[in-house]
Amino acid sequence: MIKWDNKNSENVSMIDEGHKKFIDIINKATHVQKSNTKRPIAISEILLEITEYARKHFRTEETYLIDCKYCDYKSHKDEHNSFSKRIPGYWQELADNKLEVIDAILEHLKWWLNNNIQSTDKKYVECFRKNGLN
Ligand SMILES: [Fe+2]
Repeated sequence: MIKWDNKNSENVSMIDEGHKKFIDIINKATHVQKSNTKRPIAISEILLEITEYARKHFRTEETYLIDCKYCDYKSHKDEHNSFSKRIPGYWQELADNKLEVIDAILEHLKWWLNNNIQSTDKKYVECFRKNGLN
């Protein structure tokens, strides 16, 4: 179980809410992975949440980054796109009844938490601050 830590706060509530939601998805996915019977419906619920997260949260974050003319906007958006691009493949594996797809999903979510939410997302905080977005 991963818990939200205030040191992860970007001081913008819309962004923080998205990141909290992401941790929530990781915890749910961990629960599904650990259950003896990995039910397709449970995996599809996780995938739906990820799909919705990518659609809403990335757009919100990108809007803020444009607003404050963030210098690394392009590379940050590329990272978001690389995350989103994986989602159809996960849906396909689920459709093929490869229930072990939950392992790959969870691994990717944890990787994303470490390398994006707790790393590259930190880089724009200064940009937000300068533009009064806190
Ligand atoms: Fe981001």
